[in-house]
Amino acid sequence: MSQKEISSRCLTLFVISALFFASAASAGNMSEEAIAQRIAPVGSVYLQGDIPEIETFDIPSGPRSGDNVYNTFCIACHSTGVAGAPKAGDTKAWNARMAQGRDALNDHAINGFNAMPARGTCMDCTDEEMIAAIDHILSL
Ligand code: HEC
Repeated sequence: MSQKEISSRCLTLFVISALFFASAASAGNMSEEAIAQRIAPVGSVYLQGDIPEIETFDIPSGPRSGDNVYNTFCIACHSTGVAGAPKAGDTKAWNARMAQGRDALNDHAINGFNAMPARGTCMDCTDEEMIAAIDHILSL
């Protein structure tokens, strides 16, 4: 075998083995982990009890302030005077109402009075919170 023949055979062998390894490499990563990743389902399902802990926030305990109740519920009518509601800050209108006594005022706000809905639509307001809200309206 001549020197030339040997080197040409070597080259052929080299090319064949290079092709073989190249095709093996393109078959991709055959590790178990890689395969599991490829055949994993697209979505995942949460079963009851699996739900991860949800961040909680503190719900304020104790009575809401008059300011809070007013700004959430009463302001809708008492800032603009809807349906004849005495406006917050209208001292004359409130003084006239105060003339009947604070107890009557409280009672009307808690139980409703004409177009004034019971508890001013704050159905879960306690009497204490309602009275605080009235105090707040009277302070405006
Ligand atoms: C849907 C509208 C509306 C909302 C909401 C509302 N009010 Fe009234 N309120 C009225 C109207 C209308 C009157 C006047 C009723 C009348 O004199 O005929 C009134 C009257 C009052 C009076 C005077 C009662 C009297 O004896 O003269 C008080 C006190 C009062 N509201 C407190 C509140 C408070 C506190 C809230 C919130 C918790 C509230 N209102 C929410 C409409 C509303």
